Amino acid sequence: MHLLRRPARMHIASVGLSKVGFLFSLLFCGLLLLLIPAFQPTARQVDLPQPRPQVRTSASNSQQISGPPTVSDSAGDPDTGLNISSGGTNDTLETELFENDDYRGTSSDTDSNAEVQELAGPGARDLLELKDIFIAVKTTRKYHKSRLELLIQTWISRAKEQTYLFSDGDDKELQRRTGANIINTNCSAAHTRQALCCKMSVEYDKFIESQKKWFCHVDDDNYVILPSLLQLLSSYHHSQDVYLGRPSLDHPIEAAERVKSNGLVSVKFWFATGGAGFCISRGLALKMSPWASLGNFISTAEKIRLPDDCTIGYIIEALLEVSLIHTHLFHSHLENLQKLPTDSVLEQVTLSYGGYENRRNVVSIAGGFSLLEDPTRFKTVHCLLYPDTDWCPKPKPHSRK
Ligand SMILES: *[C@@H]1O[C@H](CO)[C@@H](O)[C@H](O)[C@H]1NC(C)=O
Repeated sequence: MHLLRRPARMHIASVGLSKVGFLFSLLFCGLLLLLIPAFQPTARQVDLPQPRPQVRTSASNSQQISGPPTVSDSAGDPDTGLNISSGGTNDTLETELFENDDYRGTSSDTDSNAEVQELAGPGARDLLELKDIFIAVKTTRKYHKSRLELLIQTWISRAKEQTYLFSDGDDKELQRRTGANIINTNCSAAHTRQALCCKMSVEYDKFIESQKKWFCHVDDDNYVILPSLLQLLSSYHHSQDVYLGRPSLDHPIEAAERVKSNGLVSVKFWFATGGAGFCISRGLALKMSPWASLGNFISTAEKIRLPDDCTIGYIIEALLEVSLIHTHLFHSHLENLQKLPTDSVLEQVTLSYGGYENRRNVVSIAGGFSLLEDPTRFKTVHCLLYPDTDWCPKPKPHSRK
C-alpha cells in the first residue's frame, strides 16, 4: 500500500545507480501507473500503520535493540524484506532512508501525508497518553511497608489511576491512606513458581478487562520513569505485535516443547526478565489469550515448568512466533546499576536497587538526598524528574542580576 507514495522517490534516487536499480524503478513506475487511477481512494483508506515494518524501522533508529538470531517472521512482506536485507548496496540504503522518512512523516508530499496522519496519527505513531498504559506491580504482603510505600510516594503518585499493585493480601489501611489500587490476587505468598504464575495470570486478566492499550509489568523494586516509558511505547502502535524488555540471558533459553507437542521436541526462545519490567501491546496480549487468560497461564506454565516471565516469552516467541524486541532501557537489581552513566539515568525506562544483600548496588545520581536519606536513589530520581513535588528539596534561589 506504500507503493503509492514510495515509487516516485525510489525512482529519483536510484536513477543512474545501477542497472538493477533502474529496472526496479521501471517496474515500480509501471505499477504506479496501474495503481494510481484505479485504487487511489481505497488504498489511502487502508494506509494504516503497517505492523511489522514499523517495529523494525523504529527499532533500528532509537533504542539499543538487537534482534534475536531467529528473525523469520518477515518473510512474505515485501516492505520488510527490503528494509532488513543485508546487502548494503546503495539501493538498499536509499530505500531504508525512504522508509524512515515515511515512518516519521517528514517526506515532502505533504498532501498524502496529511491524510495518512489524520487516519493514523503523526507518522503513523500511536498518540499515546499515560492513561493508555496499564502498569502492574507485582508485590507480596511482607513488602507493603518496606517497598510499596516508597513506590507510592514516588512514581506511582504520578500514575495512580492506571497502576495496580498485585499482592497476596489485603491492605485496606495502605489503600485508604494512599489511594493506591491494591489487588489481592488470593495467590500464595510463597516465592514459588506456582505463586508467581498465579499473580501473572491475574495481572493478565485485569489488563484485558481494563481495555488499555499497553500492558507493562514491573516488580516492587522498580522505579518506572514514566516520561521515558511513554516515549518508548509511542514509537509503536498498540495494535502491532510488540513485546519489549531486557533479555535476562545473552542467549535464548531452551525448553522441552510440551504445549504443541509431547515434549520430545525442544524450543528455543528469548524472554524478557520480569525483574526489569516488560511491556506487551494490546494486540499481542489478545493473541496470547488461549494460553494466558482465565487460568490458562497457570496451566501453560505448569506444562513447560518454567517461571512466570519465561512462560510469557514462551507464549509469545515459541507459540505465537513474535520476537522479543531487546531493549537495555529496563533494569533489574541483578545488574551492576552503578555502571549506568549518570547522565543517562533519567532516560532509562525502569531502574532498580540492590536491596539488603547488596545495598551499594544503586544508580549513581546526585541530587537533593544523600545516600543515607535515600538509599535506593528513587527519591533523588523522582525529584530530578518532578522538582515541583512538595517533599522535594527546593532548589536554591538563583542570585539575581
Ligand atoms: C480474592 O478473594 C476474594 C474473596 O473471596 C474475592 O472477593 C476477590 O475477587 C478475589 N480476588 C481475585 C483477584 O480473584
